[in-house]
Amino acid sequence: MKKRLVILASGGGSNADNICTYFKSSNRAEVVLIACNKAGAGAFEVAQKHGVESFLIDKESFHNGDFLQLINDYRPDLIILAGFLWRVPAYLVSAFPDKILNIHPALLPKYGGKGMYGHFVHEAVVANGEKESGITVHWVNEHYDEGAILFQATATIDENDGPKEVEQKVRALEIAHFPQVIDSLL
Ligand code: GAR
Repeated sequence: MKKRLVILASGGGSNADNICTYFKSSNRAEVVLIACNKAGAGAFEVAQKHGVESFLIDKESFHNGDFLQLINDYRPDLIILAGFLWRVPAYLVSAFPDKILNIHPALLPKYGGKGMYGHFVHEAVVANGEKESGITVHWVNEHYDEGAILFQATATIDENDGPKEVEQKVRALEIAHFPQVIDSLL
């Protein structure tokens, strides 16, 4: 039986796209749903491109717990946050212990927490004159970016790199590693 992967996204969906592509030829797992909390986001096009079901996450049902039934219908073995920007409520964390995974575009515990996402992360990294950044894959708990770390990969920041260059390096690491890290957990 293939493991069932559910992806939650908020944005362009490049990680969702990469994960769908990787598992298309896998006999271990398949992506069964991409749920996204932003209407019109690229993640919906990604779902369509790969023939994966998708729906828009409604804020009220996500917070009042009705979302649990919706997602349980897909019987997920693993829930993957791929650029998903809402904090995961406690009911969801306890319904899926050690089954919710996040990718963060920095070397946690640095540059994590509320408001630290996407370009804000890379801007802060450059402003602080960091010599390296990277990606962190971690289990999700009720606190932003604080669950147990499973994997990190590092990129060197050159003297002339701005936030855009750092973002490119980090995205390259995400594309190179995230599906393999997921695969190793299955
Ligand atoms: C990715 O870089 C991901 O690491 C980051 O958002 C981007 C989503 O891109 N996630 C966070 O900042 C979470 N705090 P994508 O929609 O193209 O996959």
